[in-house]
Amino acid sequence: MSQKKILLLGSTGSIGTRTLDVVRDFSDAFCICGLSTFGRVDMLKSQIEQFRPRAISVSDVAKQKEARCLAESYDIKITFGENALSELVAICEPDIVVVATVGIAGLKPTLAAIAHGADVALANKEVLVTGGDLVMASARAKGISLRPIDSEHNAVAQCLLGQNPSKVRRIILTASGGPFRHFTQEALQKVTPEQALKHPTWRMGCKITIDSATLMNKGFEVIEGHHLFNMPLEQIDVVIHPQSIIHSFVEYVDGSLIAQLSVADMYLTIQSALMFPERRPNYLAPLEISALSALTFEKPDCERFPCLSYAYEAARAGGTAPVALNAANEVAVRRFLNNEIPFHHIPHIIRKSLDTHKNHQASSLEAIEETDRLTREDAEAL
Ligand SMILES: NC(=O)c1ccc[n+]([C@@H]2O[C@H](COP(=O)([O-])OP(=O)(O)OC[C@H]3O[C@@H](n4cnc5c(N)ncnc54)[C@H](OP(=O)(O)O)[C@@H]3O)[C@@H](O)[C@H]2O)c1
Repeated sequence: MSQKKILLLGSTGSIGTRTLDVVRDFSDAFCICGLSTFGRVDMLKSQIEQFRPRAISVSDVAKQKEARCLAESYDIKITFGENALSELVAICEPDIVVVATVGIAGLKPTLAAIAHGADVALANKEVLVTGGDLVMASARAKGISLRPIDSEHNAVAQCLLGQNPSKVRRIILTASGGPFRHFTQEALQKVTPEQALKHPTWRMGCKITIDSATLMNKGFEVIEGHHLFNMPLEQIDVVIHPQSIIHSFVEYVDGSLIAQLSVADMYLTIQSALMFPERRPNYLAPLEISALSALTFEKPDCERFPCLSYAYEAARAGGTAPVALNAANEVAVRRFLNNEIPFHHIPHIIRKSLDTHKNHQASSLEAIEETDRLTREDAEAL
């Protein structure tokens, strides 16, 4: 296999650092041509030393001086500002762009990667939530494959291999249920960011961990699956599976269910996405089926966790409604993490934003960005 050049956007995050572990372990197959961070310049420095990229990007304007010195000392290119990540794509000429940024920030560079003709390994699920139609249309026009770095969609892609997609009856996404699965409405009003950040089965960045606690993460995954697999929303279901061993199911018209199981470690998902459909041995301990005491399943409770139903609602409305859903959620999650609002105000803010949103077609990046900006302004004021 010839070495593929990877541009890793969001290299200092949870998915970013795990991606570097995979690249390090399969250095015959992959090398790094570019790295980016929002503002963790120290961590980026040690990554530069190990992976010697051609160029880097630092988004935080407050870190520009420090970042410029860093780039000069290693004699590598650096990009700043609003289009920094898209410019990095042009400089690095990657074979694969791993989009591991968070929120809508990943949308523009994903479109730039597709325009450049690179394959996209997508962790940043908000890209398809906000720009699903646009991204999928661009990818189809360019013949680009989108490789999901979400354990659920990666599982679905594996379960679809070699099968006839027209024979799929349903996709069933599994959800851990988050740390508050058994909490009452009253108890949910008192939870703190510290409690919400303790996910029972996965170690992830702060934003997705809160999204998992509200079940918005699963709502986003429903929208992501709808776009990735061209699957009508009514054929995508969610089941709570607290052990996070089965990463999703595909049900076929004859009643057969095919599932993918593994230990809960994003290393495997990232490796699978980068090599898909090839498989190679890795260092992960095998899943000991005989040691598993139980695999349990239950229906999600949309009364206590309404974000899941808000995501279905926004996806059904289409247009810019999912953009408003995402923008309100980004604002609400940040405000919760800053101790400005209680946990149960996250769905309140999203509900109000959806109620006041004036839906438009999301056919251009400008339309999406405008909805994002307006919804944020309103959600900040709520
Ligand atoms: N973590 C998981 O296991 C997992 C699983 C499935 C899907 N995902 C999805 O993957 C994405 C990344 O998740 P994560 O857990 O890795 O997040 P994370 O740990 O917060 O990392 C995010 C990365 O993006 C950078 N970044 C943040 N905001 C940015 C902005 N506005 N512009 C440019 N760069 C920015 C961060 O830089 P700094 O380090 O400077 O903040 C960091 O490198 C999310 O969309 C998440 O939903 C994650």
